Amino acid sequence: MIDHDGDAWESFAASVHVPRLIGIGTKMECPMTSREIRESFLRFFHNRGHTLVPSASLLPDSPNLLFTNAGMNQFVPIFLGQISPPFHPPRAANSQKCIRAGGKHNDLEDVGLDTYHHTFFEMLGNWSFGDYFKKEAIAWAWELLVHQWGFPKERLYATVYRPSPGEPGQFDEESYRHWAQLFQAEGLDPSRHIVFGSKKDNFWMMGETGPCGPCSEIHVDLAPEGKGGPQRVNQGDPHCLEIWNLVFIELDAREDGSFVPLPARHVDTGMGLERVCAIIQGTEKFRRFGQVPDDYQTDLFRPILEELQNLSGHCYEGTLPDPGTRGRTPEQKRDIAFRVIADHIRMLTFAIADGIYPSNEGRGYVVRRVLRRAVRYGEVLGFREPFLHRLVGMVCATLGDAFPEIRRAQPEVEEWICREENNFLRTLAKGMELFRQEVSRKTSALFPAEKAFQLYDTYGFPIDLTQLLAQEEGMEVDLAGFQKLLDEQRRRSQEAQRRVTIEVVDTEPSSPVTEFVGYHTLEARARIVRRKNGRIITDKSPFYAEMGGQVSDVGTLTHQGRSYSVHDVQRRGQALEHWVEPGCPAQEGEEIILAVAQARRLRIEIHHTATHLLHWALREVFGPATRQRGSYVGPDQLRFDFSCPRAPNREELKRVQELVQECIQRDDPVRWVLRPSRDVRNDPTILQFFGEKYGDIVRVVEIGDYSKELCGGTHVRHTGELEWFTITAERAVGAGVRRIEAVAGPALLDVIREELPKREEQYRLWKKRFPELPALDPLEIPDSIRESWQAWERWIQQWEAIRTWLNERDHQKEQNRKRSAKELAQKLLAKVEGKKDEPVVVVHLGEREPGDLLALAQALKSLGWGGMAVLTGHWKGKASLVVLVGKHFRHTFHAGKLVQKLAAAIEGKGGGNQELGQAGGGDPQKLASVVKLTLEELQSQGSFRAVQLEAEIPVFQLQPVKS
Ligand code: ALA
Repeated sequence: MIDHDGDAWESFAASVHVPRLIGIGTKMECPMTSREIRESFLRFFHNRGHTLVPSASLLPDSPNLLFTNAGMNQFVPIFLGQISPPFHPPRAANSQKCIRAGGKHNDLEDVGLDTYHHTFFEMLGNWSFGDYFKKEAIAWAWELLVHQWGFPKERLYATVYRPSPGEPGQFDEESYRHWAQLFQAEGLDPSRHIVFGSKKDNFWMMGETGPCGPCSEIHVDLAPEGKGGPQRVNQGDPHCLEIWNLVFIELDAREDGSFVPLPARHVDTGMGLERVCAIIQGTEKFRRFGQVPDDYQTDLFRPILEELQNLSGHCYEGTLPDPGTRGRTPEQKRDIAFRVIADHIRMLTFAIADGIYPSNEGRGYVVRRVLRRAVRYGEVLGFREPFLHRLVGMVCATLGDAFPEIRRAQPEVEEWICREENNFLRTLAKGMELFRQEVSRKTSALFPAEKAFQLYDTYGFPIDLTQLLAQEEGMEVDLAGFQKLLDEQRRRSQEAQRRVTIEVVDTEPSSPVTEFVGYHTLEARARIVRRKNGRIITDKSPFYAEMGGQVSDVGTLTHQGRSYSVHDVQRRGQALEHWVEPGCPAQEGEEIILAVAQARRLRIEIHHTATHLLHWALREVFGPATRQRGSYVGPDQLRFDFSCPRAPNREELKRVQELVQECIQRDDPVRWVLRPSRDVRNDPTILQFFGEKYGDIVRVVEIGDYSKELCGGTHVRHTGELEWFTITAERAVGAGVRRIEAVAGPALLDVIREELPKREEQYRLWKKRFPELPALDPLEIPDSIRESWQAWERWIQQWEAIRTWLNERDHQKEQNRKRSAKELAQKLLAKVEGKKDEPVVVVHLGEREPGDLLALAQALKSLGWGGMAVLTGHWKGKASLVVLVGKHFRHTFHAGKLVQKLAAAIEGKGGGNQELGQAGGGDPQKLASVVKLTLEELQSQGSFRAVQLEAEIPVFQLQPVKS
């Protein structure tokens, strides 16, 4: 056994923000606090050679896993043999933040109804990667529980895997043997303390596929007499609980349903911190038995519940719903609400702090539902306004020492939750409307399942709340029907969810390694270590492979004096694979020269440094809650996605741009240093991208004394090399995520070169149409980038001013057109006779734009014209017609069809709806015939004659001939 000294622990404790330890051990009189329990666990395994690793992000790496749901998630590539364990000896331990609210392990619906199901919890775990196995794992678990923490040994039971026919693996004889020896040595009867279980209870899988294996669990009997014995284990007895799961990872579950042995055997254990605290604290360190352990009575939850008491004015009394009965007392309902809210606020705080934001799909949707569930339960405690966000501070107070990331993200988390609460309260109001409608049409005492489901699914009403509301109205929810709909939905979503697929990719021990030399040089002599098709792996390379948003380099490979292009480079494990043009004869073992295309690389580096400056400037302007969510760094431009709950305004973007430009003008140095990962992991001054995995040694890129980021990319040496920086676009790309596109350095000139001819051409077209357009100066592009860009910006301003001039002109023209159309319409109405008989007029407007005809028709319409108007005009050698059919003729004429007929007669084309029709393209010479043609159309309505009312603008009124 490796025993490490206290100094190592202290330095670890300092580096992960674990406060100094205060006397922990068996001699303690008071039950340990949660902090002491967590630390005691970590220290125990640290003293046994385990490297203490930080909790992985809740955003998992495994595809299709909704959330990090177990401590082992971050070690999957090690279990699969894809990477070797970076710990010496190969052991690790931590307290992992986990969410089980969706997917294979889902506890959401049970939360609140008991004292131990949670959406978010901490899992204490220890791991061996091909190192110690069952014997040590079992012995150490026993030692910690019994000899350090004081669990009464006679109350402990161990379960061992014994598969039923058709289940994977074999009877776990090895674990059985170790447990039997251990119980015997402790004077306990193995036949009583060892319980066998099949796949359901004793085989652990993270998802449908991936590393898995038999497990051996430790259960504790907390009944008053404590002699319940094996028959209580795994029987759902709240007095007999599993406390620690020791999993022996030895198989890989494949997509086809087979289980294949892994290259090595591993240990993966998990113990829920909340539960172990509830047992130690609830039994007053094993002095008082009989109570069902209550996680909510521990110091992990009490402060949150107390805060909730203060906010709501209600008291948490710790009552539970009576098993088997549906009715609940008011206290029971309130206590359920207390537990739900206290649980959910922890989940929400941690998820959002890890960048998992409420949204309408995937894991974001789970976060949103959890939030809505909490808000609904808030109603039971009398909250009608947003309140949840006010609990975030207390979550940070209880857990911020162990997980400093939540403290850092607190303002952002509060802002998100508050905004979501507000939105949801509005949705709720609509849901309540639906509920009331249903109640008002009440046809029976049964509240319909479909409506309850709709409320649950669309409006986020938990079923027990709908039940509560229904009961108040003397109704009962059709629970069986609701359950059926819920099951159907679950089945659908399970089918829809792609299965978790994890495969061993490269277990070959001799996988090649390429040394990357491209930080300092762009050309290197290298030896080919592997060649497969067009792909070449070398012992070293100056080529950067696409990673962290930065695109891959391109360049050449020179072999025996001839150069071949390298058009892509990819990382495979620790090797760099160069995609070389066909025809390159270089073979394994040969020396070649690799050269990166320099100008392109410089443009990429300029954009990478600009990305860091932009990130810094955004945080200056929008506050520290602003986080990077993704990026693209290429030779042409950079794209930067960041979390920001609202749209930035023009002034703010201008400020961001100016801040970056100031950095460029100061010509600050850009440096990088290599630092041990554990030193920087929790350093709040270093920006780190959540969800990203880093090795033991990480690279920190620093600009001046203001920007520090973990980054493996390549950069310029001074900010002055950027010369100028411009934001070219900004928009939303998702819920709360914005995207900025920007350019710096020589790429700016490309933007100008591409944009300039387009804009000049546009100007030429405008000028042709409107010769009176103001002049646009030609743009001279000066030599320096900075001056070019300044000249360009001035030029753009002039161009924009011309566009504005045009817009205003169009606007003015439209106003004028409307005004004169209205005047003309009024004149016309004054002239026509027999308004009551609903006049029909044909108006020849002469040389007029088609828009004028339409404006006149609109004006007539808005003056309440009930008759029919046929308007003609010509413009640039083409005739046009507009027909308006007022209400009097609504049943006899269709404007679209009529205009079509008239247009056909003058060789034009047209169409429209019942009320308004338009045609164009006819022969202006033939317009005079329109009066006659219209008279013909009117024949079906009796006999009409045309009377010219006016000579200046020929207006004909087609009047009925009274017989
Ligand atoms: N991975 C095991 C679990 O989550 C320890 O229970």
